[in-house]
Amino acid sequence: MATIIPFLYEKREEKAVYFTSLLKHMKILVATEKPFAREAVEGIRQIVEQAGQELALLEKYTEKAELLAAVADADALIVRSDKVTAEVIEAAKQLKIVVRAGAGYDNVDLQAATQRGVVVMNTPGQNSNAVAELALGMMLYMARNRFTPGTGSELQGKTLAIHAYGNVGKLVAKKGKALGMRVVAYDPFITDAYVYDNDGVEKVDSVEELYAMADYLSLHIPSNAETKASIGYEKLISMPKGATLVNTARKEVIDEEGLVAAMTEREDLKYVTDIAPTNAAEMEERFGKRFFATPKKQGAETAEANINAGLAAARQVIDYLLNGNTRFQVNK
Ligand code: 3PG
Repeated sequence: MATIIPFLYEKREEKAVYFTSLLKHMKILVATEKPFAREAVEGIRQIVEQAGQELALLEKYTEKAELLAAVADADALIVRSDKVTAEVIEAAKQLKIVVRAGAGYDNVDLQAATQRGVVVMNTPGQNSNAVAELALGMMLYMARNRFTPGTGSELQGKTLAIHAYGNVGKLVAKKGKALGMRVVAYDPFITDAYVYDNDGVEKVDSVEELYAMADYLSLHIPSNAETKASIGYEKLISMPKGATLVNTARKEVIDEEGLVAAMTEREDLKYVTDIAPTNAAEMEERFGKRFFATPKKQGAETAEANINAGLAAARQVIDYLLNGNTRFQVNK
């Protein structure tokens, strides 16, 4: 025994020293056009430096050239909605891993990353509560005429329909229930009735049925080839009188022409979004108080969400570089 324990201990030490020497000069770049809260950046720095690595920061950049220059010698990249295109991956000759600190990774060119053997991860669930709170806030804002004088309405008793029952959808459902709403949900990938029953949420079997029931439709689908421009005229026109579409997902999932057509035909429909549509100016002019878009995406803009997602991203980078952990890899 006496000889075995030191042997194991030495081996472990040897392994750690081996990795540390191997990784001594690893540069982890945090490139955020929309920076993380200071506490989050400090937390990321601690994780990186405690692992013996180097942190580089590129914040509030305005030119793509700045990102291209900063990634040139980066071994790892942490981003938010920053666009990690094939050009960025090509410029990052040492790059081994990209972590999107957040849920949606439609901003990362997965094909280019995979071709180069670069691992891509997200940090699912880490900023979900912030997004869910914003979705509810947006419903209240629209229900009360965007906080302008006049008679509004209450959320209690209304039907809240959740399109996609993932991390954010589940939290929106829970908060909606707390406000006395009837909550229904549809998710093509979550078909087990138990998941919904367990949360006291009614499972709906088709997307058509979901929209036809929705006083408030909260969108939580990702943006991908299947979902792009998938929310348009047919679905919106089927919504009940006075219905509101709430988008804290992605602008790309909306068929903007179809949305304008439905809102023109139905003067009771409302659209509130955290991601301004391409035709925001036109919509504002045409629909007045029935339309609202945040000036800049705010869903994950809380200190808590920044800390959760930023620190998770830093831990995932280190855990991959040191231990090869690929648990959250999305381009397997
Ligand atoms: C996400 O996909 O996690 C959210 O859209 C948050 O994006 P952000 O980090 O750019 O605010």
